[in-house]
Amino acid sequence: MSDAAKIPAGTDLIEEINRLRKERNAVILAHYYQKPELQDLADFVGDSLELSRKAAETDADVIAFCGVKFMAETAKILSPEKIVVLPDMEAGCSLEDSCPPEKFAAFRARHPDHIAITYINCSTEVKALSDVIVTSSSAETILQQIPKDQPIIFGPDRHLGGWLSRKFDREMLLWPGVCIVHEAFSETELLKLMAQHPGAPVAAHPECPPAIIDHADHVGSTSSILNFARDFPGDTLIVATEPHIMHQMEKALPEKTFIGAPGADGNCNCNICPYMALNTLEKLYVALRDLEPRIEIEEGLRLKAKASLDKMLEMASATVGKGDLGPVAAG
Ligand code: 13P
Ligand code: SF4
Repeated sequence: MSDAAKIPAGTDLIEEINRLRKERNAVILAHYYQKPELQDLADFVGDSLELSRKAAETDADVIAFCGVKFMAETAKILSPEKIVVLPDMEAGCSLEDSCPPEKFAAFRARHPDHIAITYINCSTEVKALSDVIVTSSSAETILQQIPKDQPIIFGPDRHLGGWLSRKFDREMLLWPGVCIVHEAFSETELLKLMAQHPGAPVAAHPECPPAIIDHADHVGSTSSILNFARDFPGDTLIVATEPHIMHQMEKALPEKTFIGAPGADGNCNCNICPYMALNTLEKLYVALRDLEPRIEIEEGLRLKAKASLDKMLEMASATVGKGDLGPVAAG
C-alpha cells in the first residue's frame, strides 16, 4: 500500500506530525539536502557530522531521520536504545552502493599495512571494517592527525579522497566510488554560468570531480558552504552541490542571490539527490505514527562500527564551535 493510501482523507499532515512528535518524544533530524518542507519541520538541520553529534546526544525516545539510510544507521549505532525511523528505507546512496563490504574487506586484506579512513557515506558493515570514519567537515582535521609515514586507504569517494590527497600532498589508495549527484555537474556549463556572472564566486562540495573543484573559490562540507555563503563579500554565489541546500541560504540571506551549478544540458534536475528526494511529509507522518520503517542493527556489528565512529567524534572535536551556521534550529 502506498503511503498516501495509508493516510485518512483530510489529515492535516503538519498538525499530525507536530502532535506525534510530542506524543512520541521524538526529535526530527534533517540533512540540508532534504525538501524544504522537511527542513522547516525539523528540530535540527545539519551536515553529516552535526547530525551524528545530535543523534549521539539527544534525550528523545525516537529519532525520525530525514536523510539517507547510512545517516539513520549512524544515529542507531550511536544511540542504540532509541527507536530510529527513516521515512523511506529505499533512501540509499551511490557511494554506499559502490562499496560492497566483501570487496572492501578483500581490498583491505591486500594492503595490511594501510589504515582505512572511510567516508561516512558507506554501510554499517564497511564502517565496521574501517579504522576511522570521516565526514566532509571532519576529514581535514582527522587526516592531519595521522602520522605522515602511515599508509592510507581512503574510500568510498574517490573525489573527496583525491581532493584531500592533493590538498595535503598525501598519497592514498582510493576506492573508485562516486556520488552520482555531484558527478553530474558539467564543467562546460559551469564556465558558461561563470561568464554570465563575472565576479560571482563558486562554492563546491568535495564530492565534485576535480574539473568542477578546480574552478571553486571555496571547497567544503554543506555547513562550510553555508558559512561561505554568509561571509563572502559579494551578492551572487554559484553553488555546486545538491540544490536543496539553497533553501537555508535563501532563508538566512534573502539579500543575496544563489545560483545552482548546472548539469550537462544546462538546465536539468540531475543534481537533485534521488535518494534524499524519496522522503516526503506523508512518509514522515506514517513513520512517526507507526514507528516504521525502523533501523535495526545486530549488536556485534554495531559495536564494531561504533568503534570507528567514536574515533571520528574524538578526532573531529577540534572542528566544533567555529561559529557555523549549522546545525540550525528550524523555523
Ligand atoms: P555533508 O553534509 O557532511 O557535507 O555531506 C553531504 C553528503 O554527502 C550527503 O550526501
Ligand atoms: Fe549519496 Fe550523493 Fe545523495 Fe549524498 S548526494 S546521499 S553522496 S548520492
